[in-house]
Amino acid sequence: MGETGEKKPVLVDRYNRHVDYARISVTSRCNLRCVYCMREGHRRPGVPVEELHYREICRIVEVLGGSGVRKVRFTGGEPLLRDDIVDLVRYAKSVDGIETVVLTTNGVLLDRSLDMLVEAGLDGINFSLDTFDADRYAAITRRNLLPGVLANLESLFRYADVLRVKINVLLLRGINSSELTDFGELARKQPVTVRLMELMPFDDHQIWRTGKFMGADKIFEKLGNIYPVLKSMRGHATEHFSFSLPGYRGKVAIIPAFTRNFCSQCNRLRITSSGRIMSCLYSRNGIDLLKALRERTDTGQLRLLFQQAIDMKPKDGREAGEAVPRTSMSEIGG
Ligand code: GTP
Ligand code: SF4
Repeated sequence: MGETGEKKPVLVDRYNRHVDYARISVTSRCNLRCVYCMREGHRRPGVPVEELHYREICRIVEVLGGSGVRKVRFTGGEPLLRDDIVDLVRYAKSVDGIETVVLTTNGVLLDRSLDMLVEAGLDGINFSLDTFDADRYAAITRRNLLPGVLANLESLFRYADVLRVKINVLLLRGINSSELTDFGELARKQPVTVRLMELMPFDDHQIWRTGKFMGADKIFEKLGNIYPVLKSMRGHATEHFSFSLPGYRGKVAIIPAFTRNFCSQCNRLRITSSGRIMSCLYSRNGIDLLKALRERTDTGQLRLLFQQAIDMKPKDGREAGEAVPRTSMSEIGG
C-alpha cells in the first residue's frame, strides 16, 4: 500500500498468475553464432537494426515498477553489446518497486564491464556456457573465444558475495552431453547453480529436428546415474527441478524449457528488442509498445497496454502455439 492507503496496481492474468518478472531484450545483436540459435549471416553488417533506445527502456522499467513488477532481467541477443548497459542497470535499480535487476550473457565481453555492473547494483548474472572444450565451443558458437570466456567466468567468482551466479548449459545429445561431470565439478567448487537446459525449437536452421534434443527426463536419468545421492530441492519457476549434493557449494537444476511443465507458475512477461510486449515465449504477435512510447503515450495508457498483453497470456506455452519455428530466440530474449 502507498502512503495514502491506496493499493499498488498489479498485473494479474486470467489464471490468477501475478506477473512480477519482466524480461527485456535490449538487443537482437549477438557476438556469437550458436548453431541452435542463429545462422552465420543472421544479420548483414551495416544493416540498421530497430532497437529500443535508452530512454525508452527506462520508461518501460518505470511503468513496470509502478505496476507491481519487482524483477527485471536484461537479455538479448547479447546485452553487453549495448554501450549503455551499465547505465540501464543503474537506472533500473533506482526505480521504485524494482527490487532485483539481473542479466543473461554469453560472457564474452564481461571483462569490460563486470566491476561497473556490480557497482551499478546488479544482483545476478546467468552465464551461458555449453562446454569447457575449445574445439567444441568453436563448433557450437562458430567463434574461437573460449579462453577469454572462461577467464571472465572465473572473475565472476570474486563477486560471489554480492552476485547470484547461474550457469546455463544447453544440452545437446552427442555434442556436450558427455560433459555433465565437468559441470557438476563447477557446482562442487563454486557457489553457483548449474542449470541443464532443454533445446528450444526456435532456431534458424532447425537443428531442433536433427535428433540432438535431450529432454528433461533423459537429463534427469543421466544425472541420477552420475550422482546417485542427488537430493531434490523445491525449485521455483524455470528451476523447477533443483538438486543439492552433499559437500557441494553450488546446486544443479534442470530446466524443462521445451517441456514447459512450469507454466502454471509463470510470472513473466517479455519485451522484445524491437519494443513488443509478449506475454509468453511462444506467443506469435504481442502488442506494439514502441509505437506507443514514440507517440508519448501517458503512463496510465502504457499500463493498460501491459494489462492487455497480460490478459492474452495463454494458460501455458502449448496453448500459445506448438513449436512455432521462430527465426531466432535473439529478439524475444530467451
Ligand atoms: P531466473 O530468473 O534465474 O530463474 O532465470 P530465467 O530462467 O528466467 O532466465 P534465463 O535468461 O537464464 O533463461 C534461461 C532459459 O530458460 C531460456 O533460454 C529458456 O530456454 C528458458 N526459459 C526462460 N524463460 C522461459 C519461459 O518463460 N518459458 C519457457 N518455456 N522457458 C523459458
Ligand atoms: Fe510462461 Fe509461456 Fe514460458 Fe510457459 S512457455 S513458462 S506460459 S512464458
